[in-house]
Amino acid sequence: MPYEVQGVIAGGKGEAVTVQSVIVPDPGPGEAVVNVQACGVCHTDLHYREGGINDEFPFLLGHEAAGVVEAVGPGVTSVAPGDYVILNWRAVCGNCRACLRGRPWYCFATHNATQKMTLADGTPLSPALGIGAFAEKTLVAAGQCTKVDPDARPAVAGLLGCGVMAGLGAAINTGGVSRGDSVAVIGCGGVGNAAVLGSSVAGASKIIAVDVDDRKLDLACQFGATHTVNSKTTDPVEAIRELTGGHGADVVIEAVGRPETYKQAFYARDLAGTVVLVGVPTPDMTLDLPLLDVFGRGGSLKSSWYGDCLPSRDFPMLIDLYLQGRLNLDGFVSETIELHQVEEAFAKMHRGEVLRSVVVL
Ligand SMILES: NC(=O)c1ccc[n+]([C@@H]2O[C@H](COP(=O)([O-])OP(=O)(O)OC[C@H]3O[C@@H](n4cnc5c(N)ncnc54)[C@H](O)[C@@H]3O)[C@@H](O)[C@H]2O)c1
Ligand SMILES: [Zn+2]
Ligand SMILES: [Zn+2]
Repeated sequence: MPYEVQGVIAGGKGEAVTVQSVIVPDPGPGEAVVNVQACGVCHTDLHYREGGINDEFPFLLGHEAAGVVEAVGPGVTSVAPGDYVILNWRAVCGNCRACLRGRPWYCFATHNATQKMTLADGTPLSPALGIGAFAEKTLVAAGQCTKVDPDARPAVAGLLGCGVMAGLGAAINTGGVSRGDSVAVIGCGGVGNAAVLGSSVAGASKIIAVDVDDRKLDLACQFGATHTVNSKTTDPVEAIRELTGGHGADVVIEAVGRPETYKQAFYARDLAGTVVLVGVPTPDMTLDLPLLDVFGRGGSLKSSWYGDCLPSRDFPMLIDLYLQGRLNLDGFVSETIELHQVEEAFAKMHRGEVLRSVVVL
């Protein structure tokens, strides 16, 4: 019997989201239905609502989630009903050119459920990032479920499913931050502050947080920032250079997704340093840089997709660090809300009042 549940739907470009009935099919081969317990509100959900990702409305939003497996389809052995899982949007295929070369964190053919969830009238839904977890239950590929220690509360665990993992991984995996590095993070929302935390855990000696909002900079200090720069009032490139002996930071992480902040990141890093772009730009944005500077400054310019994470490797390990009190994930949960408050949460995100509003079901 298919399930009928309540879910948060983005019906059209820029339209306020609504809570509607969603039909979740029984899991087919390779699929799982998950009872969602918590799902964070990520900036990418807002990008979907604004039509910034694609035009495949209506969307079932929500993709940073944790819950308990309700049912699995034929052939599923990796998870079973009752397992506590974080949902991921990198269910590695094992067969694409990235997987075959031993680099599954880049997997180019990640799995999603093959059946569609629908509205009550049968209209097929596009689940955000192949998840759609602002709903009491959701249908995913079994590989999108990563088992973790159930002692971690869902509101916290779910955050590893997207933004916090993206930020931690941008620092640790993509940027390769390690002991003694100087790091600057531009944009300290949920993603950027997770990059601050990741840099701190990795042993960076100097962590410079940059934002246009002092509230975010105060939070950055809780996650391990050693210096803060408000780039509304201070030139961030000059400030970062000054704080690093005139040279620039070894690793600069851009967590806004705009050309002007990318340029700041580019010029705020030391010679042969690394820039990591984890913020997601929109299709209209372009970048103009002197090619000689790209050459002359050397180093590497990288993008970070989902923090280059491998969920099966990273989620359980990070949850264990959290449970040992070594990773402040609680600090990202600004508030817990109900399904019908997602639109309000977008407004709060827009006003910079929260790192993460988390829907708890
Ligand atoms: N690469 C990935 O896999 C991945 C995953 C999740 C989210 N993201 C992206 O990361 C970005 C950040 O997401 P978030 O959830 O933290 O969003 P957010 O809205 O919570 O945070 C953005 C932060 O940037 C700051 N900011 C805005 N303009 C700025 C400027 N000019 N200079 C400095 N700071 C500025 C804001 O004050 C805010 O603190 C988004 O683009 C999101 O889509 C990427
Ligand atoms: Zn693959
Ligand atoms: Zn996200």
